[in-house]
Amino acid sequence: MGFFDQYELFYKTSQTSPLPHRLNSRFKAIIERNKAKLEGKRVLDIASHDGRWTFAALKAGAAHVTGIEPRQELIDNARSTFSSYGVPDDRYTFECGDIFDRIRGKKFDVVLCLGFYYHTIRHAELLDLIERTGADFVVIDTEVTPTADQILVGKSSDPRLVYGNPYGIQLLVDPVDEQQMAWTDSMTRNGRTVVGRPSRAAVDFLANHFGYNCETFNWPEFFVKHEETASSMVDYSEGWRDSFFLSRKP
Ligand SMILES: C[S@@+](CC[C@H](N)C(=O)[O-])C[C@H]1O[C@@H](n2cnc3c(N)ncnc32)[C@H](O)[C@@H]1O
Repeated sequence: MGFFDQYELFYKTSQTSPLPHRLNSRFKAIIERNKAKLEGKRVLDIASHDGRWTFAALKAGAAHVTGIEPRQELIDNARSTFSSYGVPDDRYTFECGDIFDRIRGKKFDVVLCLGFYYHTIRHAELLDLIERTGADFVVIDTEVTPTADQILVGKSSDPRLVYGNPYGIQLLVDPVDEQQMAWTDSMTRNGRTVVGRPSRAAVDFLANHFGYNCETFNWPEFFVKHEETASSMVDYSEGWRDSFFLSRKP
């Protein structure tokens, strides 16, 4: 039985891939693996959606979780689910709004940035703001653009290299009226806003710049052991999504 099989309301409170295999596998990679890093900590859950990861972090022992999510109906769903499962009110806070408006001036030990880093074009700014929260540990679970990692020819320590620069961010647009997409912002035109899907190397580069060591979950090994999950996780199993663990450099 997976973690979310005990809390089946989460299979109904979102239109964004609430698939049992998917949520339970992500739980193993994002929460179970990092339980010791969450215990007793104050956590920020960016793009908290229906509260799935806020809830999971609390069950893993986080002292308090703040979820920030711009879609009020998802916050309403989260509050209703938390009440059904008897989560004490003083363990969590949900704020309705844009992460860039809400994160400033807040302090956390751990930041979860799950399913959001490809719904913004402000990647460096967000990591800057995350670092300024004081967080020593950050999880970024994001779609990535794998081809940009593969074009590196030769090795160079100069990130200004023009040819073979692997630190790319692929430009895309998100329709802002869809629940799993970017929230409307000042760059929105005709119902779409500009977002970017970073390469793996770009995430690693930004993590390093802001003072974090970066490692990734071993999804290929996971899918060898849990073949049955791959069909509900094609983004991870085909290599265009990854889970990054950022630890503040000593
Ligand atoms: C793909 S879903 C990810 C949900 C959840 N974090 C997960 O990983 O399963 C993207 C979420 O980002 C939220 N979102 C979009 N723009 C946002 C913004 N500017 N600030 C905070 N959250 C945002 C959406 O409302 C949606 O809930």
